[in-house]
Amino acid sequence: MTINILDVAYTRLKTLDLDGASEFATRILGLEPADRIGNHRSFRSDRRMSTLSYEAGNPSETIIGFELGSGEELESAAKTLEKIGHDVRRGSRAECDQRHVSDFIAFSDAGGGRIEFAVSPHVAGAAKLSRDAGITGFSHVGLFSQDTERDEHFWTQVCNARVSDRVGELPLLRLSQIHHSIALVPAKHSGVQHINHQVKSIDDVQRNYSLLRQHNIPIVFGPGRHPTSGARFVYFEGPDDMIFEYSVGVQEVDEKTYRERQFGFEPSSLCMWGAKAKIKELSS
Ligand SMILES: [Fe+2]
Repeated sequence: MTINILDVAYTRLKTLDLDGASEFATRILGLEPADRIGNHRSFRSDRRMSTLSYEAGNPSETIIGFELGSGEELESAAKTLEKIGHDVRRGSRAECDQRHVSDFIAFSDAGGGRIEFAVSPHVAGAAKLSRDAGITGFSHVGLFSQDTERDEHFWTQVCNARVSDRVGELPLLRLSQIHHSIALVPAKHSGVQHINHQVKSIDDVQRNYSLLRQHNIPIVFGPGRHPTSGARFVYFEGPDDMIFEYSVGVQEVDEKTYRERQFGFEPSSLCMWGAKAKIKELSS
């Protein structure tokens, strides 16, 4: 049975410098600090209790969590995953508490990328951002893929994702009417490639860009505008080479009339304002 994913829920990152990463997440990115337990720190970007966390460890071990609709759907997803050969692990109560979810399962995708499906991410009032970054929430991720055809098959055939566009061999997949929630970025390894937060306006993109420059944060793409989703964006480098993005104005798709499009893999397909990506996997 198809695994019906509702949305991205959280990313869990590891870092060699927990204090430095926490400083980045709040003072630069602008997120609200939530929990600070032992060597684990979590952060809020919207109504959810935790959409990003850092813990001490190997930065190559990233986790992306997605939300499913109910406990029954989680059970059914576990069975589906086991049937196609994935080892599925049930999250413990302590792990659920750390993630602020009611229940979750963990597995690795065919390329070894660590994925979690969770139920009921806990929510509260809007996040109290650490600075005026204009963030409205955690919105999408790029995932490295050693085989985009294989991984697209997983997300679209085993799960409910739909292809909105492709740029060369890079599919942009949607889980809702939002143009994309997952971008599969061809690479020689797996894991989270970039983490997107939506902001309120183009002014926020520009304001954040200026702040990032003042703090000597490497800007790796933009400001620019994607011809695929229409979003205005800026991408920059965080701790341990993780790429973060602020964007605004992502297109919403009419499920009945939308047809996927194929863009050539060239700079103008990634930015219509002429910005060139300084991101290895996106530089042609
Ligand atoms: Fe993005």
